Amino acid sequence: MSQPAALNQDQIDYWNGEAGASWTRNQERVDRFLAPITAKVLDAAKPAKGEAILDIGCGCGETTLALAEAAGPAGKVTGVDISAPMLERARERAAAKGLAPEFIKADAASYDFTPESFDLVFSRFGVMFFDEPAAAFANIRKAMKPGGRLSFVCWREAKENEWVFRPLVAALPHITPPEPPAPGTPGPFAFADEGHVRGLLEEAGFDKVHLDPLDLDLIMAEGGADMLDQSINFVLEIGPVARALKSESEAVTEKVIGSVREELAKFETPKGLVLKGACWIVSARP
Ligand SMILES: C[S@@+](CC[C@H](N)C(=O)[O-])C[C@H]1O[C@@H](n2cnc3c(N)ncnc32)[C@H](O)[C@@H]1O
Repeated sequence: MSQPAALNQDQIDYWNGEAGASWTRNQERVDRFLAPITAKVLDAAKPAKGEAILDIGCGCGETTLALAEAAGPAGKVTGVDISAPMLERARERAAAKGLAPEFIKADAASYDFTPESFDLVFSRFGVMFFDEPAAAFANIRKAMKPGGRLSFVCWREAKENEWVFRPLVAALPHITPPEPPAPGTPGPFAFADEGHVRGLLEEAGFDKVHLDPLDLDLIMAEGGADMLDQSINFVLEIGPVARALKSESEAVTEKVIGSVREELAKFETPKGLVLKGACWIVSARP
């Protein structure tokens, strides 16, 4: 009889494979793209001098470094992630900035954190990938000081996020359509439903759960002659079109590029190629 898959193993494989490689390769571009969201979620989380802060799914470390700067030398910031290549990038960036957050390679769902040790648990798009999210958040909650804060940002539905939806709709006539994820499947849009997020956080023992919508313009590429080329390259590196094209031929990829180019051209503005993003900023108390 075959063994049941270990919890989160698919995600561990995924973030140590092609996804970890492409997020690391595109780190600067992704951080530029997400910068307006980063500013809003950091503003909501209010990291303070001297605090102990945990950054879940810290990836290449952009927010861990910002949190370490906010907490200052008297604070203690920890980034946890399952992806070896992304953590390697995070460590290099911390060293280059003279910052010393701790980075742990571990599954946040089951890691044995020191109980009641964090004032703030934070995440930028790193908490939607747990096979059993309520159990994972119960584990995270145990690591929080009484009176601590949970603060994270996650995506709302794909169709509200033009940056991902418009290229996908343009590509669909040419590709094998990706299976719509079954409800509860981990992934970038797993926390789109307000009631689902509220329910799982309450099941994990959190209190005072708030979800605030954040709608904003995201700049896929800044202005310039190669704005469309840059945007197409982005779509071919990160997101569902990139994933779908892994199993398609070069001829199909060429057709997809043509259709995505035509679609994205509609979003050219003097500021750059601008598409809507839609998130939840979530806060809760342990
Ligand atoms: C969408 S990326 C976001 C990375 C980073 N927070 C950022 O905004 O650039 C999701 C991150 O969550 C991490 N992740 C997924 N499941 C995890 C788990 N169970 N424990 C820790 N990290 C996890 C992935 O390795 C990846 O780095």
